[in-house]
Amino acid sequence: MSFKNVNFEKDGKMVVITINRPKALNALNSETLVEIDSAIDMVAEDEDVLAVILTGAGKSFVAGADISEMKGLNAIEGRKFGILGNKVFRKLEKLEKPVIAAVNGFALGGGCEISMACDIRIASSKAKFGQPESGLGITPGFGGTQRLPRLVGLGMAKELIYTAKIIKADEAFRIGLVNKVVEPEALMDEAKALANTIINNAPIAVKLCKEAINRGIQTDIDTGAAYESEVFGECFATEDQKEGMGAFLEKRDKTFKNK
Ligand code: CAA
Repeated sequence: MSFKNVNFEKDGKMVVITINRPKALNALNSETLVEIDSAIDMVAEDEDVLAVILTGAGKSFVAGADISEMKGLNAIEGRKFGILGNKVFRKLEKLEKPVIAAVNGFALGGGCEISMACDIRIASSKAKFGQPESGLGITPGFGGTQRLPRLVGLGMAKELIYTAKIIKADEAFRIGLVNKVVEPEALMDEAKALANTIINNAPIAVKLCKEAINRGIQTDIDTGAAYESEVFGECFATEDQKEGMGAFLEKRDKTFKNK
């Protein structure tokens, strides 16, 4: 399938999804959101893919939801647009494969929000983050009020959202919004190296770790621990558990089969 605003490149066990609408700094209009949704479906259906990198073309990661599209919306249409973005980002968050955001530039509004729906964020030193919505007369609409406080804590999230201030990559790192900051030219190599490290581990275990963490963070610790015991047990029904532990005890290299 070919897209207008999204590049989809498969390289072995990895897929790189690049949001490619550089004239609008990769702002997310409905068309682009629908294409991202389809790209996520393609990854979900491909058993060979074990990790995804999400990035932006040109100098921006994603400069937010498309302001030209939003400007004339009424309340019903605004709600519908918000539901679309939230649906796509939730699908990304629930994708049963690890997703790394390689944040190459502006990650504002919907751009910061899509990065937060990824599992891990690596930022270029040129990246900038923020939720500028209150300065536009709206609230964050694609998950910012929900994921930012979960990532950086209530006080910091409220400050960022109420002030609409834009922060640099090093500040994003300091508050825990990004995992690592690297030089711009090293960004994709760094993201790919991280993806490969994950790919070399047992895919079913990685998938279940993601599910346990994502479910657990939203529930009480007893429910979360019970779920962890479920997925932990499930691992013992896999060939890869026998392989991983066998290889350790036999002091040999392991070969996981995603089975
Ligand atoms: N929507 C639509 N178009 C956008 C856009 C956006 N979010 N961000 C940038 N563009 C367009 C600009 O309108 C401009 O188009 P033209 O060339 O046709 O004039 C083009 O991209 C280049 O942008 P600038 O000339 O502004 O580039 P710059 O380097 O001077 O500034 C910037 C870069 C600081 C990111 C600035 O473009 C900007 O502030 N963009 C808006 C950021 C923003 O407010 N994002 C939040 C949107 S609301 C949202 O996302 C809601 C939600 O939660 C769902």
